[in-house]
Amino acid sequence: MKQTLPINSERLQRQIDELAAISAAPAPVVTRVLFSEADLRAREYVKNLCREAGLTIQEDAVGNIFVRWIGKDSSLPLVATGSHIDAIPNAGRYDGVVGVLGALEAIRALQESGFEPQRSIELIIFTAEEPTRFGIGCLGSRLLAGALSLEKAASLRDPEGKSLEELRGDAGFGGQDLKKVKLAAGSYSSFVELHIEQGPLLEKENIPIGVVEKIAAPSTLRVQLTGVGGHAGAVLMPERHDALLAGAEIALAVEQAALNSGSPDTVGTTGVFRIEPGAVNSVPCRAWLEIDLRDTQLPTRDGALKKIEQAVPEICKKRGVTFELQRLNVDAPAICDPSLVNAVSEAGRELGLEVKKMISRAYHDSLFMAQICPTTMIFIPCRGGVSHRPDEYSSPEQIKNGVAVLAATLARLASNS
Ligand code: GLV
Ligand code: MN
Ligand code: MN
Repeated sequence: MKQTLPINSERLQRQIDELAAISAAPAPVVTRVLFSEADLRAREYVKNLCREAGLTIQEDAVGNIFVRWIGKDSSLPLVATGSHIDAIPNAGRYDGVVGVLGALEAIRALQESGFEPQRSIELIIFTAEEPTRFGIGCLGSRLLAGALSLEKAASLRDPEGKSLEELRGDAGFGGQDLKKVKLAAGSYSSFVELHIEQGPLLEKENIPIGVVEKIAAPSTLRVQLTGVGGHAGAVLMPERHDALLAGAEIALAVEQAALNSGSPDTVGTTGVFRIEPGAVNSVPCRAWLEIDLRDTQLPTRDGALKKIEQAVPEICKKRGVTFELQRLNVDAPAICDPSLVNAVSEAGRELGLEVKKMISRAYHDSLFMAQICPTTMIFIPCRGGVSHRPDEYSSPEQIKNGVAVLAATLARLASNS
């Protein structure tokens, strides 16, 4: 890579490692669930780094953090970047974090190079990109984009039955009005998110940078099943209404719906399956499932969704189990902005880095930022395409390439008036 900016890889890696140590589980596992003690400590850690860089900080009612480098003309719509620092259970240290600490490093490098932005540059640390607590991903960016109604936000409950209202209050955001989270139209002129690829293509093809043209469409279902419990020795098999077995059949129906959708891009996962009472000598009387179904194309995703929604009542009827089926989210894909895709490609070219146009199969806050401003993403390779696992890894050099392309892109976008 042609070296242009003073990007400090050692500082960045040290901060990625320090942030990874703030976790509810021992290293190398990173677990930081929304508004958990680890999430709150991680927020403080990152805010301190931002303060040290001389940036201003604001937070909204759901805990989205806005870190601003004020430009020469603060009346212009801002250029934004950012990602998330929450992490699913048993995660690694790079998902989301590269787009937050990497963006901070990009800003520091630009500052140290003497660059003065015309437009202000904003680093956004989004609340709960991960769906762990409420079953719904991109909570902060959904609300920013006005893509989640306040009624639906009010109905969200975590596995312990706690509401968003209660939890954001406990986290110190209760004094603000959730209504005000939605951004005014035209707040940002562009949004560019740096992220690890979470797939194998860049590594396989030995390409240092990806630029995202489309983000696949996610959806999530929650199924609550109520059967009849009883003694594992005493209740004979024909008499049973086992909630777990109904759930197991539903999980297999999800697999079939994805496999037979007609598209190789349909993927279905039953990633949450809890049962009660959870005793080896007791027939499971209740089960909760959360189902993640995605595709790059809407017709095949929606077809598979329909198949699953038809299978649930059939399976439950056959087994004498009652059910509640809830669509937590059913989202459209995002199409990225062609001129931003070109800006990233051009920035890569100037740095002597090959850039591959890509689809993101994972979702990101960019899915919702794309609803309110021109958006794209910069991908860097990750080892084996592995993500959402503790052994997730991108090298300091790979991260530095991504930061360099992000910094060059931000400089370009923040220079035009
Ligand atoms: C984001 O973490 C996703 O599940 O795609
Ligand atoms: Mn993730
Ligand atoms: Mn992520």
